[in-house]
Amino acid sequence: MDFTTMFMFCLFVSFLSFLFLFRLLLKFLTSGHRKLPLPPGSLGWPYIGETFQLYSQNPNVFFASKVKKYGSILKTHILGCPCVMISSPEAAKLVLVTKAALFKPTFPASKERMLGKQAIFFHQGEYHSKLRKLVIRAFMPEAIKNIVSDIESIAIETLKSWEGQSITTYQEMKTYTFNVALLSIFGKDEILDREELKRCYYILEKGYNSMPINLPGTLFHKSMKARKELGQIVAKILSIRRQMKHDHKDLLGSFMGDQEGLTDEQIADNIIGVIFAARDTTASVLTWIVKYLAENPSVLQAVTEEQEEIVREKRGEEKALTRADTKKMPMTSRVIQETLRVASILSFTFREAVEDVEFEGYLIPKGWKVLPLFRNIHHSPENFPEPEKFDPSRFEVAPKPNTFMPFGNGTHSCPGNELAKVEILVLLHHLTTKYRWSVMGPQNGIQYGPFALPQNGLPIRLSLKT
Ligand code: HEM
Repeated sequence: MDFTTMFMFCLFVSFLSFLFLFRLLLKFLTSGHRKLPLPPGSLGWPYIGETFQLYSQNPNVFFASKVKKYGSILKTHILGCPCVMISSPEAAKLVLVTKAALFKPTFPASKERMLGKQAIFFHQGEYHSKLRKLVIRAFMPEAIKNIVSDIESIAIETLKSWEGQSITTYQEMKTYTFNVALLSIFGKDEILDREELKRCYYILEKGYNSMPINLPGTLFHKSMKARKELGQIVAKILSIRRQMKHDHKDLLGSFMGDQEGLTDEQIADNIIGVIFAARDTTASVLTWIVKYLAENPSVLQAVTEEQEEIVREKRGEEKALTRADTKKMPMTSRVIQETLRVASILSFTFREAVEDVEFEGYLIPKGWKVLPLFRNIHHSPENFPEPEKFDPSRFEVAPKPNTFMPFGNGTHSCPGNELAKVEILVLLHHLTTKYRWSVMGPQNGIQYGPFALPQNGLPIRLSLKT
């Protein structure tokens, strides 16, 4: 190779290198996020990540030890996904409220299939807003007011069936919250196939946390079959409703009355979704309350006195409870708040970054899951002094902003919170004024499946006060 060829070759290579470096520089400058570091933390084993650690120990310990080691924003890898966990109130607000558009709700595909792809939790944007408006209409205080006495009848009947019995609190509370959910969805109409609906729902829930293998004989397969039957039952209820002339104020009425119209499939997915959101959550909270009241006699005494005062005000008459009565229960309401905080039955929620997001100086890459850790926020001594202590009086003063989120925050926050509180208050009214109970067996264990629950669902023995 002569000198000129050599020179030309070097020039060409230099030009290519320059082009390459220039493109790199351009990419570096235009994609500002890329230069940011990922949050601190560990991704654990390939694929499994740290799932095993999370599900094999108390989530309090798992989250708290991570936060202690890495700070309030950290990376981990659970359930096959890289995740960023956040545990400061400000960051949770950013993800759930201020920058909610950058973080979409996300669930495993198998769960979407099981509940119904069109259910409210899985959506963002216009369809979500439309559904949310319809759900809120059915669960706003004005609507709940009209069903307080019906909720009370369910509570009285439920408690009567436990008299003199040993029961598993969680199982029985699930029956109560299921019946209240059906009341709020279908109103007082006699529901054709009510028992069939319950039977299918129980099969569906059994398979909810199973391996998503849709082969005959598997729990998942049975659940999917039950889900199909549930869809058919709701379709039947819908067609009966269509033949009725008058308006209904319940959730089904709200869905059916929408001018733009929801399809039958959309209605079915959302009805099954609301049962799912309403039942186990409220039943877990009620179970914890029964436990905390049994463990704290002075709190139980104060709640009982408050409830007895309401009975006295009614002068012993068998008058039904009203929404106004439930507003005269500040002590009982604080017990509910403190239980929601201490038990934090939903330890966290999931979102997914829809694009690369810069977050407190770190990069959250597109597609990564983001987990606001409600439990950590509720158990931080900065937000709640002596956080492990059950002390309802702490709610005599309002908590600091964004530190108390048992019902979430922002566009996906719980539209059923009013109903949940009312059905808990009504049951507690009759439980504390008419009954005494004692917890049977060991009382300190906690099980997670997926909600935090007292061990074995809290077996108790209940008897009428004499
Ligand atoms: C004490 C009981 C309850 C607790 C602790 C609770 C908690 C929550 C939380 C934390 C969220 C937000 C999840 C997220 O942001 O990812 C949520 C959403 C939801 N909850 Fe509840 N909930 C309870 C009872 C209920 C009841 C009784 C109903 C129905 C009547 C209900 C219906 C819903 C629905 C439909 C959503 C989804 C809202 C949306 O995506 O826009 N919940 N709940």
